[in-house]
Amino acid sequence: MLPLKCLISAGPTREWIDPVRFISNPSSGKMGYALAKEARDMGFDVCLVSGPVELSKPKGVEVIEVESALNMKRVIDEKFNFYDWVIMTAAVCDHRPKSRNKIKIPKDQFPENLLMSRNPDILKELGEKKRENQVLVGFAAETHMVLESAHKKLKQKKLDWIVANDVSKTNQGFSSDQNEVTLINSDGLENQISRADKSVIAKEILHAIHLSWLEKAH
Ligand code: C5P
Repeated sequence: MLPLKCLISAGPTREWIDPVRFISNPSSGKMGYALAKEARDMGFDVCLVSGPVELSKPKGVEVIEVESALNMKRVIDEKFNFYDWVIMTAAVCDHRPKSRNKIKIPKDQFPENLLMSRNPDILKELGEKKRENQVLVGFAAETHMVLESAHKKLKQKKLDWIVANDVSKTNQGFSSDQNEVTLINSDGLENQISRADKSVIAKEILHAIHLSWLEKAH
């Protein structure tokens, strides 16, 4: 039997203002990389689409490096049809500067109000076009109303699973080595995964999804 194919996005995106300035977020990519390594160890064929991070590339995983949300979208859209599971852990910037200045903007000419454009919601668009037998997983990094927001996003983006993550707590989330998450399925059932290293969290997430995948007799 062919190995299961798993596409994972990780890290932040970087939205350039000019050659020396960008807008981004504190995502370290650790959760996505941990998922990629675990999926590889489970025998899956893994492609990791990674924003700029300071992590070494996992062996045995195809890694495609991207910078902006638009770059990430282009790569993921190209790959999407060929994968069984798609897991979006990337902290995609919701906005980008309306234009990228070719040369450095002198500080005394830097605009007081930067004009921004909305980036596409990559995951929401995947939810619209996913096939019946594809599994789509999102992450919801929240600072308040964590579970409520995650349930809402699960429905709005037509996901099979969402991983709710409270990033307001210190020592978990964005750049930490540990995390504490709630995994929610499309029936709205919650499964809390208590604080542990991201490698352990990754294993629990993937095993729960795999069990349900096998139950649906793929
Ligand atoms: O709506 P929110 O940004 O909280 O949703 C988070 C989920 O959506 C994550 O899985 C993230 O990778 C994905 N996302 C995306 N494109 C965006 C924003 C978020 O794919 N522009």
